[in-house]
Amino acid sequence: MARVIFDRVSKYFGDIVALRDFDLEVHDREFLVMVGPSGSGKSTALRLVAGLEEATSGRIFIGDRLVNEVAPKDRDVAMVFQSYALYPHMNVYDNLAHPLQLRRVSRAETDERVKRAADMLSIGDLLARKPRELSGGQRQRVALGRAIVRDPEVFLMDEPLSNLDAKLRVRTRAELIRLHERLRATIIYVTHDQQEAMTLGDRIAVLNNGALQQLGAPQIVYDRPSNLFVAGFIGSPSMNFFDASLLARDEALFVRGTGFEVLVPPERARAVDRHAGRDVVLGVRPEHMYEQSEVESAPPGSSLRAVVDVVEPMGNEVFVYLSTGGQIFTARLNAETDLRRGQKVNMVIDTYKMHLFDRDTERSLFL
Ligand SMILES: Nc1ncnc2c1ncn2[C@@H]1O[C@H](COP(=O)(O)OP(=O)(O)O)[C@@H](O)[C@H]1O
Ligand SMILES: [Mg+2]
Repeated sequence: MARVIFDRVSKYFGDIVALRDFDLEVHDREFLVMVGPSGSGKSTALRLVAGLEEATSGRIFIGDRLVNEVAPKDRDVAMVFQSYALYPHMNVYDNLAHPLQLRRVSRAETDERVKRAADMLSIGDLLARKPRELSGGQRQRVALGRAIVRDPEVFLMDEPLSNLDAKLRVRTRAELIRLHERLRATIIYVTHDQQEAMTLGDRIAVLNNGALQQLGAPQIVYDRPSNLFVAGFIGSPSMNFFDASLLARDEALFVRGTGFEVLVPPERARAVDRHAGRDVVLGVRPEHMYEQSEVESAPPGSSLRAVVDVVEPMGNEVFVYLSTGGQIFTARLNAETDLRRGQKVNMVIDTYKMHLFDRDTERSLFL
């Protein structure tokens, strides 16, 4: 059993709060991704599990064991860093064997474990090379291999792919998923890249300012962000936000902003009608907006008038930047769209997929 539990963990560096009342249970053999902007406390959380930092308060468990007082070497975790941290004067074999030699593992077993890890990572033909004779991708594999040979219960990975070019990063992502299946270990993986988080995680934990914002399966977090921060951070291009207010009128609920008024579908109104009269932020993902002329029948009260600002063809689709009431927003449209800069257009919002946030608390009204 190697679940990892943070129980109200806080970490201060002097006055700086790196992690605040952090609660999280990582399941046994889960691939959990912690994602958040730079400075949000991700590395601190990992280093606390590894024992490289000491918690200011709260408890950390690995398996059923409270580890706050356990030395790093006795925690049965292995960490992979962004910097790889390979020994430059040692060849690949010795880099892989080194953690085992430190633990006085026999030569025969070391040899077998190094070969098995090298095989898993397809670096068997590189064992005699020095790190400087390897590409970035190969070095990154060696760093992973050095964690794998230790056969830990928990892998801690701190942005291990961020030094790779975009193409290699995507390929290595797929390999990591396969690797996780073979290792049958718990992985806590840290990244600032929301796309990486979406593709890798069984669940993702979104952090900001040292606090957990939301925890859940990637699709759930994407579809039902719990607050404005998560809504804006997950998804690319980002969700569009419009300042608005929520109004009740003639038994119906409307979202009114500068130059638009959309109807909350009756099926969804019940969940939010107690917030009528409040200042809200309307959130609409770029893929949930359409040109009215392309839609067979738009429900009444679902469109807004806008001017096309920039058209960005991506090949398979087009990002269109529009403005309405002084606000810029993005729509993700079919590659066939013939919208041109300066054109006036009616855009339909999929009101069944729109989000509403309280402007003060920034929490989703649909929770
Ligand atoms: N050793 C340290 N001394 C002082 N402040 C630190 C130290 N380590 C991290 N911090 C601060 O704690 C916060 C969280 O840092 P970190 O966990 O590295 O964030 P992330 O990995 O999400 O970028 C930041 O404000 C950072 O400056
Ligand atoms: Mg970090």
